[in-house]
Amino acid sequence: MVEELNKLLSDLNVFYRKLQNYHWNIKGHDFFVVHEKLEEYYNCINEQIDEVAEHILILGGQPLGRMKDYLQISTIQEANNEKLTSDVIYKNVTADITILLNLSKEIKKLAEEKTDYGTSSLIDEYISDYSKKLWMLTQMQEK
Ligand SMILES: [Fe+2]
Repeated sequence: MVEELNKLLSDLNVFYRKLQNYHWNIKGHDFFVVHEKLEEYYNCINEQIDEVAEHILILGGQPLGRMKDYLQISTIQEANNEKLTSDVIYKNVTADITILLNLSKEIKKLAEEKTDYGTSSLIDEYISDYSKKLWMLTQMQEK
């Protein structure tokens, strides 16, 4: 369980850095809206980072704390330093949140099998959060 949660922690950390990178590099006519939305997203992810790390401690595990560990373990890949328009950013963010949702569902399944109710209830919030974000992102990208 700790191993799976450290994987989530790694994905969240890489995603946090990526979202702020996008926040800095968004260009285009919708700059103001996307710039602000990305800030809302990375602040939310930052809260989840702290929650997951502390939950690992509650379980008696050791949360990973080094960027090089996160980069080695995470499925989410860093973004380059380049200016991007919102359609590319939203497409990539949608793919990354799908990764987070799928991993969360795997953790939920494992937590239920192990009757680890603390992890199970924590992960419920993330499944709801990622599902809602994905719904909104999909609505926004539909023409
Ligand atoms: Fe900012």
